[in-house]
Amino acid sequence: MLRRLRLMTAGESHGQALLGVLEGIPAGLSLTPVEIDAQLRRRQQGHGRGGRMLIEQDRAMLLSGVRHGLTLGSPIGLQIQNRDWANWQERMAVEPVEGAVEAVTRVRPGHADLVGALKYGHKDARNVLERASARETAVRVALGAVARILLSRFGIEVRSHTVSIGAVHSRVPVWVSTDRRGAWGAEAERYWESVEHSPVRCGDPGAGNAMVSSIDEARQAGDTLGGVFQVAAYGVPPGLGSHVQWDLKLNSRLAAALMSINSVKGVEVGVGFSGGELPGSGYHDVVEWEPAQGWARRSNNSGGIEGGMSNGEPILLNCVAKPIPTLMNPLPSVDLVTKQPVQAAQERSDVCVVPAAGVVGEAMVSLILADAFLEKFGGDSVAETERNYQGYLESIGGAGSEEHS
Ligand SMILES: Cc1cc2nc3c(=O)[nH]c(=O)nc-3n(C[C@H](O)[C@H](O)[C@H](O)COP(=O)(O)O)c2cc1C
Repeated sequence: MLRRLRLMTAGESHGQALLGVLEGIPAGLSLTPVEIDAQLRRRQQGHGRGGRMLIEQDRAMLLSGVRHGLTLGSPIGLQIQNRDWANWQERMAVEPVEGAVEAVTRVRPGHADLVGALKYGHKDARNVLERASARETAVRVALGAVARILLSRFGIEVRSHTVSIGAVHSRVPVWVSTDRRGAWGAEAERYWESVEHSPVRCGDPGAGNAMVSSIDEARQAGDTLGGVFQVAAYGVPPGLGSHVQWDLKLNSRLAAALMSINSVKGVEVGVGFSGGELPGSGYHDVVEWEPAQGWARRSNNSGGIEGGMSNGEPILLNCVAKPIPTLMNPLPSVDLVTKQPVQAAQERSDVCVVPAAGVVGEAMVSLILADAFLEKFGGDSVAETERNYQGYLESIGGAGSEEHS
């Protein structure tokens, strides 16, 4: 999925720490833990998160690949301490422990508990759920922050917002889907700032309030809620990805990365499934060329991707996250060991993670776009990447061709 970058994460939810390695970032990129921590904080927020997020205050400890605030071109390694580990030292000990530790056998429908236990031959579903937990996405956000910093050096901005939670839908402003490359204006800044201040990362205040109420109702009922978030990437040049092979297509790479996020069950590009109802004359984005803006489209139904390549319009990806599986009013299940009917296990849990999943979505989209960007423009140092990028912009003409000279 990644071609120029390499990403690996490790760590259990209640283990001592999470670990991550990102290789392939060019040398000379300014990088400090402060910028990474800011992204980690965004993942921890959102109405509907559970008690765990009150315990953790995620901080990235950069261990390698950076010297004096600049990347070296070597693998970037980092660690995020699990503060909750203090309460789990025996249950999650690396060394053998004396006596029995209570096993999780009341498998939760919708989680990895049962299938993971069957597949790996475990009699304790904790051996599965610790890694299946979305705690792992903290490292993805931390390393995605590095990709994000690289992209913003080239004028590419990645944002997310909540489109719906349960049955409550936000009114997404029309310009979100029609803004031109480089047209990152005051209106956009204001909108995305308002998303950051919303407790559910929703830019429509009325819908945001209704979402908060429905999360509260679900919590009271011991239930959970899913929804839809959108990730938008602005300033992406035309030509990332490729039409020539299935696994080079930018849409397939983005969709796979987003589908890898815990609880995400579907990804749409642009108008997505609703595009199936439109005639071709209503769907396709009419091509324009003007000296000031270069190549552009009159609309953006295709979500910034045609033929497996970015076309210069904003990349728009909608993702549906299912309601999370741990219910405080548990579903019926079957005990993994005794095979007797039971109520599914209740582990301290979130109620709704759609806003946080959006932040993870930004990280995954940033990683894929940075990968495709480096695949196209290369460069062992950021200065080299910049020279290559500038040459390309000049070759295609239009807006942006002077920006990086
Ligand atoms: C940010 C985030 C936090 C999550 N927190 C929880 C949680 O507290 N409890 C839970 O049961 N599932 C939670 N999930 C979802 C599960 O991790 C996920 O449903 C599970 O791993 C099964 O994978 P699947 O839904 O992709 O099939 C969370 C997902 C995300 C993205």
